[in-house]
Amino acid sequence: MSKEICLSIALADVAEGKPHVCMAGGREIVICRTKDGIYALDNICTHAHARLNEGRLRGTRLICPLHGASFDVRDGRVLGAPATRPLCTHTLRIVGDRIEISLRPAEPARLTI
Ligand code: FES
Repeated sequence: MSKEICLSIALADVAEGKPHVCMAGGREIVICRTKDGIYALDNICTHAHARLNEGRLRGTRLICPLHGASFDVRDGRVLGAPATRPLCTHTLRIVGDRIEISLRPAEPARLTI
């Protein structure tokens, strides 16, 4: 059984519309604060190796800085090519002035041919 990995960050550190990145369990996690809520996802684009926190957050759409794929931060689904695989999303809750995130286990890497 894998050990659950959790992290806690200050709510004040995450500004609306500005993706915030943090590390946990050797993974990069991007926290996105929108008008609809706060969401946590893997930070590496599923198309190639780009950091999504360096892209743009428009509403609930997170846009990759490298080739422009976009993802819905609410569920990780792909909204725009060239990515075809969704982002892994993580469970999050607000406790006082902190954001607590419980990481979903990483999926094994897959090659796309
Ligand atoms: S690396 Fe993100 S769209 Fe290509």
